[in-house]
Amino acid sequence: MQDLVLSKFNELFGGECSVYAAPGRVNLIGEHTDYNGGFVLPGAIDKAIYVGIRPAGGDTIRLYSLKNEEMAEFSLEEEELPRKQWARYVYGVCREIAARGGRVEGFDAVIGGDVPLGAGLSSSAALCSAFAYSLNDLFGNGFDLFELARIGQATEHNYVGVKCGIMDQFASCFGRKGCIIRLNCKTLEYKYFPFDPASAGYSLVLLDTRVKHELASSAYNRRRASCENAAAAIRRRHPEVEFLSDADMMWLEEVRPEIPEEDFRRAEYVIGEMQRVLAFCDALENGDYEKAGEMMYRTHDGLSRLYEVSCPELDFLNEVARNCGVTGSRMMGGGFGGCTINLVETSKRDAFVEKATSLFTARFGHEPRVYDVIISDGARKLRTP
Ligand code: GLA
Repeated sequence: MQDLVLSKFNELFGGECSVYAAPGRVNLIGEHTDYNGGFVLPGAIDKAIYVGIRPAGGDTIRLYSLKNEEMAEFSLEEEELPRKQWARYVYGVCREIAARGGRVEGFDAVIGGDVPLGAGLSSSAALCSAFAYSLNDLFGNGFDLFELARIGQATEHNYVGVKCGIMDQFASCFGRKGCIIRLNCKTLEYKYFPFDPASAGYSLVLLDTRVKHELASSAYNRRRASCENAAAAIRRRHPEVEFLSDADMMWLEEVRPEIPEEDFRRAEYVIGEMQRVLAFCDALENGDYEKAGEMMYRTHDGLSRLYEVSCPELDFLNEVARNCGVTGSRMMGGGFGGCTINLVETSKRDAFVEKATSLFTARFGHEPRVYDVIISDGARKLRTP
């Protein structure tokens, strides 16, 4: 991928460039907990967005996307968003850097990558992190990794309209080879845990439904609003509650008559998920993969029934996993399509993947994609010209 980016850069702009990469992510458990101030357990993966980039002076930005095979050009002063969706992320990152007092000047860049789009592996966070990281380095802004993650998150909020949490950008910036990150999204305290299921005879595999249902981002924002509404109702009685993660089921029950039934269900899922994350971490620490896997199934159940962010394709794959004796399985990420993440005994992996592929294809008319998870490093510079 690096070579492809380099040769395209040379063809379009002439000469040499720096190359940076920022990865996508998986999340073992802790779904829709980040914007509720809870814990998440992500890790960066070996699929990344690559950026070949060189300052060009002036204030014009020229971008080429290998995936879309098209150019976009805009000026830093332009108030209007670029028409092409993929270029909006870059525009947003530049604006967010400037809004924080950072310096950005014109540049030429080629974007490539192998993070599948719309698969729930955070390709957009990877794109934002790749630019936040490279522009920070090239223009000597000195923002730390926390701020780079926030720049990506703010880009989603202010230029794309998704009110996402911090998990994806954090994992893309802070990822470390062989480690998952336990991140407290309220305080941003984090800890790396070596994660090596293979040594215990387990594998992590993703099955990508290759569907992305419409309106996922407005549905996502509505889930977040429901959670904030439930938290606000609880706060009126318990002022110490800042996020839903500060509450428990008893406090939620108290406000049941005061909030819409839908908001109650959303909050019920989130509070349950907080407990499952802790139980999952305990189980992992004890090497009890079976218990950890059971938590994943329960998470899927909650995401499907209470949070209602699953879809028939994801529910189907979850059911097949259960029937194949897979240790743990659940939909991953925001929902409405994308992947399931599966913790499976390595001896059962091939049979499961084969069965899931044939049953899924028979039911939905297209094959799911299969990715083995390799936990990798976060955003980094790969090449100096
Ligand atoms: C998306 C968002 C994250 C997080 C997950 C759900 O990936 O970008 O911030 O909320 O959904 O856990």
